[in-house]
Amino acid sequence: MLTNLRILLIISGGIAAYKSLELIRGLRAGGAEVRPILTKGGAEFVTPLSVAALAREKVHGDLFSLTGESEIGHIRLARETDLVVVAPATANILAKMANGIADDLATTVLLATDRPILVAPAMNSVMWEQASTRRNMARLEADGVMTVGPGHGELAEGEIGIGRMAEPAEILAAIEKALGGPLAGLRALVTSGPTHEPIDPVRYIANRSSGKQGHAIAGACARLGAAVTLVSGPSAESDPPGVETVHVETARDMLAACLDALPVDVAICAAAVSDWRPAAARGQKIKKGAGGAGGAPPAALELIENPDILAALAARENDRPRLVIGFAAETDDVVAYARAKLAAKGCDWILANDVSPGSGTFGGDHNKVHLISAQGAGEASVEEWPHASKLDVAARLAERIAGVLGGASGGAS
Ligand SMILES: Cc1cc2nc3c(=O)[nH]c(=O)nc-3n(C[C@H](O)[C@H](O)[C@H](O)COP(=O)(O)O)c2cc1C
Repeated sequence: MLTNLRILLIISGGIAAYKSLELIRGLRAGGAEVRPILTKGGAEFVTPLSVAALAREKVHGDLFSLTGESEIGHIRLARETDLVVVAPATANILAKMANGIADDLATTVLLATDRPILVAPAMNSVMWEQASTRRNMARLEADGVMTVGPGHGELAEGEIGIGRMAEPAEILAAIEKALGGPLAGLRALVTSGPTHEPIDPVRYIANRSSGKQGHAIAGACARLGAAVTLVSGPSAESDPPGVETVHVETARDMLAACLDALPVDVAICAAAVSDWRPAAARGQKIKKGAGGAGGAPPAALELIENPDILAALAARENDRPRLVIGFAAETDDVVAYARAKLAAKGCDWILANDVSPGSGTFGGDHNKVHLISAQGAGEASVEEWPHASKLDVAARLAERIAGVLGGASGGAS
């Protein structure tokens, strides 16, 4: 995704500068060239030597360095790049940017560039909430400067609040997005994980879905530039960077969150939604002897059907996503069941995967899928994908979606 892209990375003087070393590694690993600028403040937190060693590039810092000017010059630095990233962005550098101040190399380059700019602010929460910083951020946003973070959490001083610089993975995702991918301007909804259907406050019905495949798809769509909402049932997977994640428990909550996310261009239903739920969840824990004397089991659990999220999205009249994709998790006759599901649910594509006990699909890192697509007049075409990691399946699916929806025109908004 980042191959051959040139990133001008400005590291200003915040405690989060150490995270920018990790960011440089991530950018290089993705194939980008990194040209670093350290402000005077930045050089108090990370050494030019570490930055240069990781970036494998000379570190620039001094506007009036004659050798620097004769080698490359501040105007070339400002122009010979695809994106300027300021991470961490101190309150000070943001204030200078908002006011067009150019009193060192970093701010002069920022004023002289005609390339897109992404900032990752990092500061104490009082600095972030300060009226002057609010004004500066509003002005920068109006000027078209893109922002990633800051997040909420523990700050350097031990306080809890907003101001933590976005994690390197999140900044990488924002960079990929800023550079525009084939899904830029499009909105995607992805569901992932199992649902938990309460029996009583301590027990529930669930299934073995881990959320790995759905989370990977959300991340892959975001990396291609889509604005992604991930609606996730309970899962140990962490929220993918650059994705808005909504956490839910039950199928009914998941449906409500999906409907809230509409309109979208594409909906990918990878969650293993429980087909049934207990007809009446008890308000209090069912005691062991409740069904009869002396610890006899409780009366049979009455189940009722849950809403069908995939079918509900496919049946929307005015705001049906242009592409509705479902997953079929089957233990036998995978393709035949998937074809039937495609027709029954009214969706456009089904990814059929084998979740039989020997397949290792549930909870595993790999998947073997068949892509079944509706061809009109009840016909369907079947494509067999090779056994691959869930990340690779996700990347391939995102590319396929881009192939069909590609480009920003006509995006849902
Ligand atoms: C230990 C220490 C930590 C600091 N951390 C931050 C920070 O996280 N964010 C911030 O905006 N300023 C922080 N500052 C203040 C900046 O370093 C200061 O405003 C400096 O002038 C910024 O210069 P620059 O923006 O040109 O790099 C910190 C200062 C010190 C001494």
